[in-house]
Amino acid sequence: MQNQRKQIVAGNWKMHKTFEEGLELAGQIVSGFEGDKGVEVVLAPPFIHQKAVGELLAGVEGMSLAGQNCHQEAFGAYTGEVSAEMLRSVGARYVILGHSERRQYFGEDDELLRAKVDRALEAGLDIIFCCGESLEVREGGDFLSFVTGQVEAALFHLEESSMARVVLAYEPIWAIGTGRTASPEQAQEMHAHLRKKLGERYGVAFAERQTILYGGSCKPTNAKELFSQPDVDGGLIGGASLVAEDFLSICRSF
Ligand code: 13P
Repeated sequence: MQNQRKQIVAGNWKMHKTFEEGLELAGQIVSGFEGDKGVEVVLAPPFIHQKAVGELLAGVEGMSLAGQNCHQEAFGAYTGEVSAEMLRSVGARYVILGHSERRQYFGEDDELLRAKVDRALEAGLDIIFCCGESLEVREGGDFLSFVTGQVEAALFHLEESSMARVVLAYEPIWAIGTGRTASPEQAQEMHAHLRKKLGERYGVAFAERQTILYGGSCKPTNAKELFSQPDVDGGLIGGASLVAEDFLSICRSF
């Protein structure tokens, strides 16, 4: 272990797996989970799987449940939506916010994300907050300030005690589901930059304690190298989290 930060591997199932398939996958992951390694393993199944997967995870030390999204209001006439309070009520510990798919396909902007962040924290959820640049921004060269801009806009209004409940996840859009992973050096560069910005806002000691995950085509074959970077504290895994063996192998990659 390189530092005192919490290491996390989170599986974002996105819109995959029927209910039965999801329960089977969660069961396989729970059976294969080696709880004594000090790594927190998080599963983020679709909404309707939450309660049942939560029951499987309850009592498994070192594993927790996350929602993939929540609404910015606590309750109300918002047909089709699910609130942070509801997620909390079935045992979720985290909610993923700011994922590029939500930004891109559902028009979620910084202002909305700020409201969702506030609501989730109020409801007692911790947050896995995603940020990341498109290929165009990467090639334009201004990617460091673009990504820190996303983080500042949605999170830097928070006080330190609230920010302590936010895990950042750097997910370059060009690496998501493309098989094209960021190189360990590219990930490290961004993570170190994010930590520096956290340090400027909340102090260096605080920044040193904050977990920052990498996501984007993270697989058993590249996880070890990515996680060995000094500022990479784990991963947010999409495709490879849908196969128990692959996901468990990534969890063992520290
Ligand atoms: P992939 O691991 O499938 O590239 O997805 C990453 C991701 O978006 C996790 O939230």
